[in-house]
Amino acid sequence: MLDKINNLRKEVEEFAANSAEEVESFRIKYLSKKGILSGLFEDFKNVAHDDRKAVGGLLNNLKIALQDKLNTLKEQFESGHVSDTGNTDLTLPVNFMQPGSRHPLSLTRNKIVEIFSRIGFTVSEGPEIEDDWHNFTALNFPEEHPARDMQDTFFIEKHPDIALRTHTSSVQIRVMETEKPPIRKLFPGRVYRNETISSRAHCFFHQVEGLYISKDVSFADLRQVLFYFAKEMFGDDTQIRLRPSYFPFTEPSAEMDISCFLCGGKGCSFCKYSGWVEILGCGMVDPSVLENCNIDSKVYTGYAFGMGVERITNLKYRVKDIRMFSENDVRFLKQFQSVI
Ligand code: PHE
Repeated sequence: MLDKINNLRKEVEEFAANSAEEVESFRIKYLSKKGILSGLFEDFKNVAHDDRKAVGGLLNNLKIALQDKLNTLKEQFESGHVSDTGNTDLTLPVNFMQPGSRHPLSLTRNKIVEIFSRIGFTVSEGPEIEDDWHNFTALNFPEEHPARDMQDTFFIEKHPDIALRTHTSSVQIRVMETEKPPIRKLFPGRVYRNETISSRAHCFFHQVEGLYISKDVSFADLRQVLFYFAKEMFGDDTQIRLRPSYFPFTEPSAEMDISCFLCGGKGCSFCKYSGWVEILGCGMVDPSVLENCNIDSKVYTGYAFGMGVERITNLKYRVKDIRMFSENDVRFLKQFQSVI
C-alpha cells in the first residue's frame, strides 16, 4: 500500500490539465466519493496495526496534496489566465494590487509631530482607558464641577473611577508625575466623548497635545510657538489671534484662531464672514496642576495646548463630514495618495 500511495503522489504532482473539463475529470478520478482516495481510505481499514501510523500519515499527506493540486488547477482555469490550449494569454488584464495610502488623520498627525519635533518636542503616549484622577481631578475638574459636563464620556458601571479619556490632557499629568522638568512633549492620541454623531461631532476623535514646563516660561513663549506652528501648517501668510477662554487646568486660557486661508481674512462663508477660524485651546499650566504632580510651582512654569486632528484635517483638505474618516470608503481614502 505504501508503494501505491507514493506512486499516486508522483502521478498527482506531475499532472497537468489543458482545459476546465480535464480539471473536473481529475477531481472525479481522485477526489469524488467513488474516487481513488476514498478507495484507499477503505483499504486502510485492513492495514496491520503496526503499519497504521506510517500509512495513515502518508495517506493524509496525499489527501492534502490532492486538494492543493485541485485548487491550483481550478484557479488556473477560473481566472482565465491560461487559455484552453494550455498557453498563457498575455493579453488578459492582470489582477493588480491597489497601493495603499496613509489615512488623512495620520497625515495630519505626522505633520503636526514633524513641525513640533523641529523645535525639540518629543512624543509620549498615554492610555485611552483612564482613571478619574488623570482625566479630571488632577486637571482641576473637581467632582460635581460643571466643567465636567462639557466632557461627558463613557463610564463602566462596576468601576465608576474608570472612563474613556475625554482629552489627551490626561497624558500631561502622567508625564509630569514621572518626569522632571524641563519637559517638552507632544501627546497624540484618540479621545472619546458622549456626543450624538453628526457631520461635525463623533463619539471618538483625535487630539495632539503639547506641554512645555521649565523655568521662566511665559505666555509670550506660548504665542510664539503657536505662531510658528500655524505658519508651518497653513502657510507663511497665516496670522493668529488668541481669544480669552476657560479651561480648568490652564490660567490664563485662550482659544487660538488662524486667519481664514480661503479669503485671507477678508471674510467669506467658510469663516462665517469673521475672517478667522478656530483651531486650538491653550494656556499657562495652572500652578495647582503642577503641585498635583509634585512640581514646585514657585520654581517652574509652563504652557499647554491641545488641538483636534479631525478639525485641522477638515480645514487643510476641506473634508466636510467627519464621519468619512471612519467609514473606510476607498473612494475617499485614495484621494490622499498623492499627499504623502
Ligand atoms: N483638553 C482641552 C480640550 O480637549 C484642550 C486644551 C489642551 C486646552 C491644553 C488647554 C490646554 O478641550
